[in-house]
Amino acid sequence: MAPPVLLERPFPSRRFPGLLLAALVLRLFSFSDQCNAPEWLPFARPTNLTDASEFPVGTHLKYECRPGYYGRPFSIICLKNSVWTSAKDKCTRKSCHNPKDPVNGMVHVIKDIQFESQINYSCNKGYRLIGSSSATCIISGNTVIWDNETPICEIISCGLPPTIANGDFFSTSREYFPYGSVVTYRCNLGSGGKKLFELLGEASIYCTSKDDQVGIWSDPAPQCIIPNKCMPPNVENGILVSVNRSLFSLNEVVEFRCQPGFVMTGPHRVQCQALNKWKPELPSCSRVCQPPPDVLHGERTQRDKDNFWPGQEVLYSCEPGYDLRGAASLHCTPQGDWSPAAPRCEVKSCDDFLGQLLNGHVLFPLNLQLGAKVDFVCDEGFRLKGSSASYCVLAGMESLWNSSVPVCEQIFCPSPPVIPNGRHTGKPLEVFPFGKAVTYTCDPHPDRGMTFNLIGESTIRCTSDPQGNGVWSSPAPCCELSVPAGANDTLIVGKFYEGFAEEFWHL
Ligand SMILES: *[C@@H]1O[C@H](CO)[C@@H](O)[C@H](O)[C@H]1NC(C)=O
Ligand SMILES: *[C@@H]1O[C@H](CO)[C@@H](O)[C@H](O)[C@H]1NC(C)=O
Ligand SMILES: *[C@@H]1O[C@H](CO)[C@@H](O)[C@H](O)[C@H]1NC(C)=O
Ligand SMILES: *[C@@H]1O[C@H](CO)[C@@H](O)[C@H](O)[C@H]1NC(C)=O
Ligand SMILES: *[C@@H]1O[C@H](CO)[C@@H](O)[C@H](O)[C@H]1NC(C)=O
Repeated sequence: MAPPVLLERPFPSRRFPGLLLAALVLRLFSFSDQCNAPEWLPFARPTNLTDASEFPVGTHLKYECRPGYYGRPFSIICLKNSVWTSAKDKCTRKSCHNPKDPVNGMVHVIKDIQFESQINYSCNKGYRLIGSSSATCIISGNTVIWDNETPICEIISCGLPPTIANGDFFSTSREYFPYGSVVTYRCNLGSGGKKLFELLGEASIYCTSKDDQVGIWSDPAPQCIIPNKCMPPNVENGILVSVNRSLFSLNEVVEFRCQPGFVMTGPHRVQCQALNKWKPELPSCSRVCQPPPDVLHGERTQRDKDNFWPGQEVLYSCEPGYDLRGAASLHCTPQGDWSPAAPRCEVKSCDDFLGQLLNGHVLFPLNLQLGAKVDFVCDEGFRLKGSSASYCVLAGMESLWNSSVPVCEQIFCPSPPVIPNGRHTGKPLEVFPFGKAVTYTCDPHPDRGMTFNLIGESTIRCTSDPQGNGVWSSPAPCCELSVPAGANDTLIVGKFYEGFAEEFWHL
């Protein structure tokens, strides 16, 4: 059993559920004479709020039913076995009033009509629902009510049926055509009840609805035609070249052309057939297309034409260095425009530059279009070997990076210079990478009673020149003979040269 989740705790405890567990353990092993905080009840709430999390056996806790429920106030009691008495069935959901069927509709009680339940409404066929199609039983003050009023079911009706030439419709009313009403067409009669016309199509049509909202007529109205005669053919945006009449005889031929700005698809000439038919099928006049749009950095076919017929095609292409985005081919539509939309020519781009530079970094440009430049920079102490940049260039039809990643070579200095009467901290065969420092000291010559002074920088550091060659930060120092105060210069200088000559010959 999951521990009860107290959404609204009557006895709040910050240490819950650790405390609950502790209390449980305590109860199991010491048979404590206590109850834990009782479960949260959806239908009732405690009358007294207390902070306590444990209650001695025999405690009465008072409850009252929550809004939406009814029942007397009740208590639960902590029993000897550390369990509260049950609160089951102490409160009952309140019921909303019995919902009424709407006139020409129905109410659907889905479960019941108690607090929190939903009911639905529907209308009979031919009626549309005005208002809300469902309602929920909710709390209102001390009681429960439906949150929506009963909707209204309104009859669906149709507009006036179409009028026809040489005939009329008949119906119970001439103004009001509710759902289901039928109108019947009849053709006019000649003098003395003589039949002049033939009815073509459905004689009767009725008012119906596809969406249960709007009324429509079931069929188009029929036609009243004169047998073996044709009515003037109707071609939108077309002009009759041959003579126009109010009626054409069987086998009579008429010829069309289109109004300016329109082109004809279909036959120019048609012939009157039985039952008011023209053969072949009537042509249509479609608007011509103006030349399609120009595209920056692009070209298209059929530049020399001023007018295009529906169905005609133009093809677009882009200048070198540009990619075509969108459709390459456009068609002139019967509405006189081009479809789909004209394409664009976009500067070609290179793919993402994927290389990485060890001991250095790659600097990327904002975009990767033709001409974009990727820079390579080596970390301090490293020299770039290869190209310092790669460019997005056009190679035939492709856009490519024109050089690959260079390498960053570590910079080394030559061995530090050797100086007479002195030495440096470098070891034999040691290499001197960038940053490495060596320190010079002068040799003592106690045997000859001579001391040397170091002149210059005692410590020099491996660094680099603008070309990336390893150079020492300053020239090596030198060791100069030091003359004690009051000493006879000539003598010492002489001795020094003696000593120097000696060392020189030793080399
Ligand atoms: C609940 O509150 C009432 C009145 O405020 C008080 O008389 C009663 O002793 C309280 N009961 C508990 C268990 O605290
Ligand atoms: C009741 O109406 C609601 C909302 O319009 C809908 O989701 C639900 O399926 C309906 N229930 C029934 C039983 O018709
Ligand atoms: C031909 O004449 C009829 C009436 O007689 C008229 O309705 C129709 O528009 C005319 N057609 C043309 C193409 O002029
Ligand atoms: C790459 O292209 C740039 C710019 O066009 C040019 O300066 C450079 O020399 C080219 N590099 C190589 C390795 O071809
Ligand atoms: C230094 O010694 C030399 C020879 O030993 C001598 O001729 C000279 O006078 C001395 N000079 C001084 C300043 O004592």
